[in-house]
Amino acid sequence: MSAIIDHLTAFKTGKIARTHAMPGGFYTDPTVLDLEKEKLFRREWICIGHADEVKAPGDYFTTELVGEPLLVLRSGAGEVKVFSNVCRHRGNIVAEGRGRRNLHVCAYHAWSYDRDGHLARAPLMEKSPAFDAAACSLPRIRTAIWQKFIFVNLDGEAGPLEERLAPLEPQVRNYHNELRHLYFQREEIWATNWKCLSENFMEGYHLDATHPQTLKPVTPTGLCEYVEGNGWFTAYRAHYTPEAEQRRPFHPDMTLQEQRFSYLFSVLPSFVVTYMPHLTVYLCLRPVDVDHVAIRWGIAGHDETIPDELLAAHVKFADDFNAEDRVKLETLQKGLKSRFYQPGPLAADDWEGTIRDFYDYMARMLTA
Ligand code: FES
Ligand SMILES: [Fe+2]
Repeated sequence: MSAIIDHLTAFKTGKIARTHAMPGGFYTDPTVLDLEKEKLFRREWICIGHADEVKAPGDYFTTELVGEPLLVLRSGAGEVKVFSNVCRHRGNIVAEGRGRRNLHVCAYHAWSYDRDGHLARAPLMEKSPAFDAAACSLPRIRTAIWQKFIFVNLDGEAGPLEERLAPLEPQVRNYHNELRHLYFQREEIWATNWKCLSENFMEGYHLDATHPQTLKPVTPTGLCEYVEGNGWFTAYRAHYTPEAEQRRPFHPDMTLQEQRFSYLFSVLPSFVVTYMPHLTVYLCLRPVDVDHVAIRWGIAGHDETIPDELLAAHVKFADDFNAEDRVKLETLQKGLKSRFYQPGPLAADDWEGTIRDFYDYMARMLTA
């Protein structure tokens, strides 16, 4: 790992030019992942899903983040809350899967927790001198909802998410993602490093070669436009060809220009999303191990409900371009392990400036 940290330090301090890709070990060395868990995934704002996944009081789903089991639910008062999903008795996992319920019962000794994480029942425990129900709530995880996305900060110490994303807000305001409805959601695991997918989603250079039938006809590489970020996000506009049919329906606030591009952004490090005039496609990334990424992704849109055939067409579109990316990212992960790989030059900012922004962020965070 020290070679990678030395590289990132030299990158940060300008001792090496910020013009080239990262060495293979950045993506393949398990000790780099350990450092990322410590410095990023436990300390920063990480998106774990969409608020519509828990639409009604009692709705819940379970997930994990770098080994921490999490329970995400909609409380009785209608707030999205995230708890540690570990029983306060002797540490069993409490809830599994997803669904709707008012009480979460640990299957081991039947302690049960309500929608605010409070211990509601604990059989026979009144006979225990040490027992104090009020001291046995599930630990609450610090949470922020930004444009309907659920972010958590495990250590509770990160700066306010809203402040960090303030410069991004006016750029995406007219899409009104906060009014869009979740149509579809799925979780997948791909055999690539999480950073490979994060970078891939955020660069327009691969669009022509990787997506000749799916994306190139509407958003070709040549029409990509880099948007400068602020160290917490990076972005680009994928402009539409003049021939491309207008994507609709969209919010009436959208300007004529906004109707003719997709705005792709990354809330660093691990949340990537495209706001199209008519649809949102987002990916919440979590590392499984150095060679695998868990992707919780979904599609949201303007209308409250859409016909099944239209939804199927949207899902097929996303599945098709995702499959095209997946093949490359899984072979990329093999190539990056080669001793003969020497990092090559990045393309100009409109195509790979977002990758340099990602490197800047990683160098800043991992060497701090
Ligand atoms: S570990 Fe959950 S009730 Fe005992
Ligand atoms: Fe792609």
